[in-house]
Amino acid sequence: MILRKVASLIAPTAALIAVGALANVPPRRVPPVPKEFRLHGDASKGQAVYVSSCASCHGKKGDGRGVAGLALVPPPAAFDDAKRMAGVTDWELFLAVFSGGPSVGLAATMPPWAGTLTEQQIHDVVAFVKTMMMKPKPKAP
Ligand code: HEC
Repeated sequence: MILRKVASLIAPTAALIAVGALANVPPRRVPPVPKEFRLHGDASKGQAVYVSSCASCHGKKGDGRGVAGLALVPPPAAFDDAKRMAGVTDWELFLAVFSGGPSVGLAATMPPWAGTLTEQQIHDVVAFVKTMMMKPKPKAP
């Protein structure tokens, strides 16, 4: 009984990893979006949260170059890296912040913030992160 349950959990994960390997993209195991999920953050409130809790690693401008993040492998996500952030959904951003990197198949060096921040603060900070995603680095001349 228990074995069958474990097998049913492992099989889809293995399939996802296989697909990721074929497509040559890192596998992301993101749990399905709950029906009721909708991002409802206030980016202007989220900015203060970002400055105090996130900028140390992700950088003031979201370029992933905060001093506390410089030594991390993998490095903190650069939110202004359009290529990296392409196709990342609101749910994935929210879950990464709420439950930490491993909840979306990323490194544990991205800490979980549920418990430290309120759910509304997490909505707010994700809304702010999205404003940085909309400002990709200008191309070098
Ligand atoms: C201790 C350093 C550190 C702090 C502090 C931190 N992060 Fe991260 N974060 C990381 C790292 C490292 C990754 C990338 C992990 C990977 O690529 O496997 C990451 C990834 C993310 C991602 C996932 C991006 C994607 O590609 O899907 C989001 C969203 C994120 N961080 C938001 C935040 C927010 C918002 C805060 C503040 C509440 C925060 N982080 C604080 C280190 C940090």
